[in-house]
Amino acid sequence: RVQRRNRPCRYDIDQFTPSFMSIFESLVPSDEEISKQKQLLTALSKLINKEWPNAKLFLYGSCANSFGFSNSDIDLCLSIDYKEMSKVDIILKLADILHAGNLQNIQALTRARVPIVKLMDPNTGLSCDICVNNLLAVVNTKLLRDYSQIDKRLRQLAFIVKHWAKSRCVNETYRGTLSSYAYVIMCIHLLQLRGILPCLQEMDPTCYVTVDNNTCAYFDQVDRLNSYGARNKETVSKLLWTFFHYWAYQHDYTKDVISIRTGRIISKHMKDWTRRVGNDRHLICIEDPFETSHDLGRVVDKRSIWTLREEFERAANILQYDPNPSVTLFEPY
Ligand code: GTP
Ligand code: MG
Repeated sequence: RVQRRNRPCRYDIDQFTPSFMSIFESLVPSDEEISKQKQLLTALSKLINKEWPNAKLFLYGSCANSFGFSNSDIDLCLSIDYKEMSKVDIILKLADILHAGNLQNIQALTRARVPIVKLMDPNTGLSCDICVNNLLAVVNTKLLRDYSQIDKRLRQLAFIVKHWAKSRCVNETYRGTLSSYAYVIMCIHLLQLRGILPCLQEMDPTCYVTVDNNTCAYFDQVDRLNSYGARNKETVSKLLWTFFHYWAYQHDYTKDVISIRTGRIISKHMKDWTRRVGNDRHLICIEDPFETSHDLGRVVDKRSIWTLREEFERAANILQYDPNPSVTLFEPY
C-alpha cells in the first residue's frame, strides 16, 4: 500500500474518456421522464392542498439533485405545519388522501427510521416515497444541485461512481455500505481538492435557510462560477482514477474526515470521532455538510469496511492496468 500511494496514473488513461462518457449518457434521464416527474409533483400537490392548503410538496433526492439515473424512484417531502397531529398521524392521513385520489400500491411505513408513504401513479407509471418535514434533505438536495452546475465533470464523475457502486453492491446502507448521497459528497470533495469546485459554504452566503434551529447558509449564485474549474483540464477518466486511487491507497482511515463544508480534510480527533459511540463506528468518515455531527459513514461496520476497501482497490487497479476498464469496472459482483 505504501508503494502504491504515490503510483503515477497510466499514461493512456484519457483514451477511455469516450467510453465512460457514453456510459454516462446512457444513464441520464430523458426530458420526457423529467416532465413526467414534474407532472406527478403538480398532480399530487393539487390533491394534498385540497385537504391541507398550507402544506407544500418538494422534490428531493436524486430526481432533484441532478444525480438521478433514469427510472429511479422519486423522493418527495411534504412540508406541513400541523401542531395537533404527530408525524405518524400525518402519514396515515396522507395515505387516506392518496387513496381517495386513485393512486395505487399505497403503503404507509410508519415504523421506519424515516416514516414514509409509498405509492404508484397509474397515469405516469412512476413510483414515489413521500416523507414529512424532512427539510434538511430538501436543503442538501439544493446544495448538491448547485455544485453540479459549476462544472459538468462533477455530474459525469458521480454518475460513473454511483453506477460502479450499484454494479458492485456497495450502495446498500442496510448492509453496511454507503448511500448515493455519501458517494456524491465524496466526488464533490475530490473536485474541491483538485481546484475544480469551490467551497460554497466558505464563501459569503447568498442563501439562508433555518431548519430545526440549524442555519444553513452558503453562496448559491453558481451561474457566476461556471468558469471556476476551467484551469484544471483533467478528463473524467483521470478524475475517476484519482477518486479510486485516493480511497484505495491515500485516505488515512484512522485519522481523516472528509468535509465539503470546509473544502478540506479535517481530523477525526477534532470531531471526537475516534472511537465507537453507540452504533456509530466512524470507520470511514464523511461529514454531512449541514448536520455536522452526522457521519455519513456511520452505517459502515467492521466487516463492510473491508468489503468497501477491497472494492476501492479493485477499481483503482482496473483503472491502472485493465485493457478495458469501462467494461471491467462495472462487472456485476
Ligand atoms: P439514488 O436513489 O440511489 O439514485 O440516490 P439518491 O440521491 O436519491 O440518494 P439517497 O437515496 O442516498 O438519498 C436521498 C436523499 O436523502 C439525499 O439526496 C439527501 O437529500 C437525503 N439523505 C440521504 N441520506 C442522508 C443522510 O444520511 N443524512 C441526511 N441529512 N440526508 C440524507
Ligand atoms: Mg432516491
